[in-house]
Amino acid sequence: MLSAAISAALAEQGWCIVPDYLNAAEIAALRDECLGAHTDGAFHHAGIGSGTAEIRSDIRSDQVYWIDEAQISPALEAVLARLEALRLTVNRELFLGLFDIELHFAVYPPGGGYRRHLDRFRDDNRRTLTIIIYLNKQWTPADGGLLRFWPEESGHPIEIVPTGGKLVAFLSDRFWHEVTPARQQRVSLTGWFRRR
Ligand code: OGA
Ligand code: MN
Repeated sequence: MLSAAISAALAEQGWCIVPDYLNAAEIAALRDECLGAHTDGAFHHAGIGSGTAEIRSDIRSDQVYWIDEAQISPALEAVLARLEALRLTVNRELFLGLFDIELHFAVYPPGGGYRRHLDRFRDDNRRTLTIIIYLNKQWTPADGGLLRFWPEESGHPIEIVPTGGKLVAFLSDRFWHEVTPARQQRVSLTGWFRRR
């Protein structure tokens, strides 16, 4: 019934935080998978914009690894099944017409961040609902790497600590956000539900 609660929060305010979306075993499995692929050199520097993206490490300094749904681990399959349940609920309740999801692991190196932005590209408006699931082992506010998030465009931001297992969801075109510089390696699974 978690999907219903997330969907209700999205209908009410457009964003939501679920502190313990994943349990400790799920976090560990996904984190190992992510860092294993990272060690194997499967990641590349994330770009900005869509298509042949431009690399701008002054804007964002994470490395990403796009997930191929044709060959995924049991741990990812379990998370994808829950996200699929969420997609169906959100479509039923909010009429968002979410069609598919694109998903990547992201690793920010120490010192890395992502400047203030919206998640919708100028030339591609399919990204509709952003999902971020943190895979960090231990994290305190002093470790930086906070998700600074503006619930209202002109108001004050809130700062979200990227604690392992936490899910953050928000409408991709509505909320400005940034990642403050991380003081240690910061790991997440990030996805966007898209419309056609
Ligand atoms: C992104 C993003 C935030 C985070 O990848 O677009 O804003 O907390 N990530 O990882
Ligand atoms: Mn973003």
